[in-house]
Amino acid sequence: MLGVRHAAAVSSGTAAIHLALLVLGVAQGDFVICSSLTFVASANPIRYQGAEPVFVDSELESWNMCPVALAEAIERCRSRGRLPKAVLAVNLYGQSSDIDAIAAICAREGIPLVEDAAESLGALYKGRPSATTGDLAVFSFNGNKIITTSGSGMLVAKDPEHVKRARFLPTQAREPVRHYEHVAIGFNYRMSNIRAGVGRGQIRILPERVRARRAIFDRYRVALDGTPGIEWMPEPAWRASTRWLSVLALDRAVALIDSGGLIDRLAAELIEARPVWKPMHRQPVFAGCVYVPHSSGSVSDRLFEEGVCLPSGSSMSEQQVDRVILALQQALQA
Ligand SMILES: Cc1ncc(COP(=O)(O)O)c(C=O)c1O
Repeated sequence: MLGVRHAAAVSSGTAAIHLALLVLGVAQGDFVICSSLTFVASANPIRYQGAEPVFVDSELESWNMCPVALAEAIERCRSRGRLPKAVLAVNLYGQSSDIDAIAAICAREGIPLVEDAAESLGALYKGRPSATTGDLAVFSFNGNKIITTSGSGMLVAKDPEHVKRARFLPTQAREPVRHYEHVAIGFNYRMSNIRAGVGRGQIRILPERVRARRAIFDRYRVALDGTPGIEWMPEPAWRASTRWLSVLALDRAVALIDSGGLIDRLAAELIEARPVWKPMHRQPVFAGCVYVPHSSGSVSDRLFEEGVCLPSGSSMSEQQVDRVILALQQALQA
């Protein structure tokens, strides 16, 4: 499906990120550059390794990692005496990053690129499947993802040695001898056989799921066309998002209601909506880490303040989408 040759099935997307950092040799005191606008699971494994995250803002075009801010973050690391050991670019809410631009910067500097594609399975970038450009990429099959095994993940890599190591470490790093021999610290990060079976069934319906999610997004967009103050998560012409989540931002100066108000209004109708991820540079657990904002001001901060993730499940019925649309119209157009 992805056309990648080497993959390791593991217990979660978080485990896959941890393994990616392990096989790249990320260790105590290293810098790892990471998108700021993401779920905390992207950044936690950097700390598991005792490394220091350096957070990078989003670009306006895709809300994903800004290549210009990435280049600036690499310079900041250089000025502190060493280049980052890896760049972890997150593909947010079903949409690929501008991965060619990011990969070109990484290649110029000789820094390995890991794509966190936990949210972007099924997306396209210039016609190629998302997460096939970086040196390594990780996927999540957590319960809330576009396809699920109820919980597991996968790591793919261009270098077969990376995958070999990523298959060895999750089995408590057991050496290939008859008795139980261990020369490295390992993990219990394997995907269970039952979950693998569920995943093999689910993967076949990925295209259907993508179509369903995109159709939900299109219905929201058409129904709210012309509503003041709405900015939909953009989709640059050369990318095809899965619209894993339908996400909008509300311009506080123009919209009738702010993001918190909209979430409350929907909740009153028993419709669950959620804020956009709180950026990592604002998380108390990462206080003191370097953050490089966009040159025109922090995009991730604005998206956190203004963003709302709408109900987006692939199995939503027409009537359920209609009900959400009506509640949105009442809140935003009244
Ligand atoms: C961007 C991102 N990275 C990593 C993960 C972690 O995946 P998992 O829940 O399978 O550990 C998730 C989702 O859960 C995610 O949204």
